[in-house]
Amino acid sequence: MRVVGVLFGADGIGSRRDRGDTMFHVSPIGHRAPDPDPTVTNFAVAPSRLASRRHPDTIGRMVPRELLVSVEMFSSLNSDEVDRLVEEARVISLERNQVLFREGDEAHNLYVVVNGRLAMSRASFDKRESVLALMEPGDLFGEMPMFDHRARSADAKALETSRVVEVPYEPLRDLYHSRPELLWEVVSLLANRLRSMDDALADTMFLDVAGRTAKRLLELAGDKDSFQLPITQEELAGMVGASRERVNKAISSFIRLHWLEQTDRTYRILDRAALTQRSR
Ligand code: CMP
Repeated sequence: MRVVGVLFGADGIGSRRDRGDTMFHVSPIGHRAPDPDPTVTNFAVAPSRLASRRHPDTIGRMVPRELLVSVEMFSSLNSDEVDRLVEEARVISLERNQVLFREGDEAHNLYVVVNGRLAMSRASFDKRESVLALMEPGDLFGEMPMFDHRARSADAKALETSRVVEVPYEPLRDLYHSRPELLWEVVSLLANRLRSMDDALADTMFLDVAGRTAKRLLELAGDKDSFQLPITQEELAGMVGASRERVNKAISSFIRLHWLEQTDRTYRILDRAALTQRSR
């Protein structure tokens, strides 16, 4: 998971050096078009039943047990407990731009990303948008209402064709009641999120738009010099927490300085040291 941005109002903390930056356009994520229903591709099959149900066309759609056990929050479950989750879970396929849920929705399930990428975002009343986090394969999201019994805290939308495992809250709540020591993994997840939000908050206070753009580009590149931007420029602006124009201007300046090359969505880092310096 990448926690990517904090949005503040024009008089908020983030406006010290970036006054006006938060007035960015509505990105497609913030668009409130009617949502198609997510496509349920398959119901989970407990491992004991796999042999009789397995078919080449459906193997890729079965709940990936190994993925679930690799998720930190489930890493201390014993085999029977994992079986129970697998039995109750199902895989959902999402098209690019498909909304899985909206902020304020009632919640009964959490999710683990199998493949693709989803954005957790919030929209302001005037449709400005802040991308809180990008969820990638192996990342877990949608857990907050399981603990506080409140509604969804943000929108979840697929940025590309994606599949997620949907796990209902009820068996997990039972599990945490009977074995509260498992909650340490949850505390660890939430503490990591808090740390990432602290970083995002510090970036908003201490970095200008160019610095934040450099930082996001480096994060999206990972250790590759040449990479495809997996999101639109509007979405990148939502991650940076600035207008698309300001983010474009920052990218153009990096290109002019020969730190970066860009052809459509393909970027090549020419001077990583300079970009890294700019992101501090
Ligand atoms: P939920 O409230 O169900 O729906 C939105 C989800 O986004 C939320 O659960 C978390 O899983 C995730 N989320 C919300 N805020 C953050 C954040 N600051 N960092 C990472 N993930 C978040």
